[in-house]
Amino acid sequence: MIRTVMRGTGSALPKRLVTNEDLARTVDTSDEWIVERTGIRQRYFAGEGETTATLAIEAAHKALAAAGIDGKTIDLIILGTATPDQTFPATATAVQHAIGANGCIAFDVAAVCSGFLYGLGIADSMLRTGMAKRALVLGAETFSRLLDWEDRTTCVLFGDGAGAMVLEAVECDVTDPVAAPGIIATRLHADGAHNPLLFCSGGVSTTGTAGHVQMMGREVFRHAVVNLAEVLEEVLGVAGITAEDLDWVVPHQANQRILDATAKKLGLPPEKVVVTVASHANTSAASVPLAFDTAVRDGRIKPGDLVMLEALGAGFTWGACLIRV
Ligand code: UT7
Repeated sequence: MIRTVMRGTGSALPKRLVTNEDLARTVDTSDEWIVERTGIRQRYFAGEGETTATLAIEAAHKALAAAGIDGKTIDLIILGTATPDQTFPATATAVQHAIGANGCIAFDVAAVCSGFLYGLGIADSMLRTGMAKRALVLGAETFSRLLDWEDRTTCVLFGDGAGAMVLEAVECDVTDPVAAPGIIATRLHADGAHNPLLFCSGGVSTTGTAGHVQMMGREVFRHAVVNLAEVLEEVLGVAGITAEDLDWVVPHQANQRILDATAKKLGLPPEKVVVTVASHANTSAASVPLAFDTAVRDGRIKPGDLVMLEALGAGFTWGACLIRV
């Protein structure tokens, strides 16, 4: 059988660090409110010359270096983003050109905060059916450019960044799919009925502008806890394991309280949850691979660990992926 194995990860952040106190100078908010309601203490915002593509390219180079793989040998690139450099072409093609993989499959996925999970699921399917052998999956965003600085209910929540993962198709005999390295199971969902709860107020075909992030925070929070717990149970069920078997959960970093509530629902000890929301805020599609790479580089996630990745975002879209590193 063909198995999708993780080879390396990388991430990138813009240079400009913005604390809650910095924001409180121009927005009617406070460090106390942001920390208490979200757990966020700071975020990074892209400056001049920094874009979704430049962040994605930096993350890609780091992931390729960690994997010890030449970019020219990548034959599939999938980039999750809601903030592409251009309306078209796909930002994935800029990454492709930068790593010298010209000619391979390259496209963006529009699943907002679940974009990286969607990318992983698609890449795993394409690798296992022989469409490609080596994939680069990324999540990269510059959400700061979609924020309404007059709307304190959204502008304090987001940050910019990028994360990348190199995956490889490996032909192997697997007797125990949970014990062997590689992607074990992925489940993805979407429900367009919830569009009014979280959306961007513009679009090419409607206003001709990018628009601004709009969110009914309390409603999104409620759905996030329920849907994420459900999809996590679903993937655990497919793998035939329980939450206790997991070494780590790497969740979408939207709000510390969502992470706590989801972990509690599953009976997961908080020390098994990788949390970076305090330092990165919500970086949408970049959030999961950025958190994953952070935990790999600081020594928490090690080869052989069983890790669950999960996210929910606008659409709603949501999903989870179980991987043995
Ligand atoms: O990435 C996609 C997924 N997104 C999410 O998962 C986000 C989910 N939602 C959340 O994380 C939370 O709902 C928020 C952090 C957005 C909001 O927290 P909350 O505890 O649900 O607050 P709230 O919206 O109920 O607002 C409580 C109060 C309101 O004042 P009143 O009406 O009680 O007087 C708001 O006006 O807090 C006020 N408020 C603020 N105060 C200071 C809202 N934003 C701010 C702010 N600074 N930035």
